[in-house]
Amino acid sequence: MASVLVTGGAGYVGAHAAKALARGGITPVVFDNLSTGHRHNIRFGPFEEGDIRDTPRLAGVMQSHAVTAVLHFAASIEVANGEQSPAAFQDNNVAGTQSVLEAMRISGVKQLVFSSTAAVYGAPKYTPIDERHPCNPVNVYGETKREAERRIHDFAAAHGVQYVCLRYFNAAGADLDGEIGEEHEPETHLIPNALKAAAGRGGPMKLYGGDYDTPDGSCVRDYVHVHDLAAAHLAALAALEGGARALACNLGSGRGHSVREVLDAVETVTGRPVPFEIAPRRAGDVPVLTADPSFARRALGFTGTHSALEAIVRDAARFHAARWGMALPGEAGRS
Ligand code: UFG
Repeated sequence: MASVLVTGGAGYVGAHAAKALARGGITPVVFDNLSTGHRHNIRFGPFEEGDIRDTPRLAGVMQSHAVTAVLHFAASIEVANGEQSPAAFQDNNVAGTQSVLEAMRISGVKQLVFSSTAAVYGAPKYTPIDERHPCNPVNVYGETKREAERRIHDFAAAHGVQYVCLRYFNAAGADLDGEIGEEHEPETHLIPNALKAAAGRGGPMKLYGGDYDTPDGSCVRDYVHVHDLAAAHLAALAALEGGARALACNLGSGRGHSVREVLDAVETVTGRPVPFEIAPRRAGDVPVLTADPSFARRALGFTGTHSALEAIVRDAARFHAARWGMALPGEAGRS
């Protein structure tokens, strides 16, 4: 059975991708330093604890498991933390990626799928955003991911590595079986925060900015189901097997939903009100961010089957409700 290294495989998207690999008959070798990932997410293959900046260790793991490809998720992702600690983000996201590349060179691994982000585009000049949109990141997080993409491109050209950069829009939802889900600490993302508020955990949610130039005044985002993201990583590996050399693909549903629409969906799914208060705009938020996923459809067969907003919210709600002991309408008696 083929083995693939999954850096950051104890984290949110990485763990879903590890599960998808295992389902697809590929052994996911999780490499994670557990700084933000969770040990309970490692259940689909072997685990190697380590830091991506430790190149010899990484190369040793690639060799001992005879991996044929790398899915590189490990990164610092909280936008606000990047503004406070740019050096740490550059170290983990840029130097860390460089170390992954170097370990691939040492070990002769020739295929890479990189976890990138819509944040590489910065403030949109137009929406929906396609891959020809200029990359002008407006925060440290986006800058470090853009720089990592550049390094991958240059390294790949020099060393005959094939790669796909997957630029996620708003990753959301949870595993369809409820095994894994979004568990950031502290949680900053909208859907888990709205669910928390609906469950009465921690008081009303803050809705950042009610006066944007959007139909209802709140920000519009493109939410994409984590299950669809995970599937896209398998499709990316298949594209590399098929001879793709250097791709960057937007992964989004192609649909925009406002914060208020998300709160409405949470109310529908949970049958509970979402207490919220309007707070000042959050620094760095743009009014509208939506993907044009047509290139991902052509290159990877990406369809975003599970990415309707209500399906995303339902799966996220099931994951959290089971842990919080919150009953959901129509699910009485389920744990
Ligand atoms: N929001 C709230 N209250 C909250 C949390 C979020 O109103 O408690 C709002 C935000 O202001 C934003 C929207 O909900 O308008 C979505 O916010 P998230 O924090 O869930 O996601 P972002 O759009 O800020 O960030 C996501 C990824 C980042 C990535 C960015 C751009 O999480 O990693 O998209 O691609 F950089």
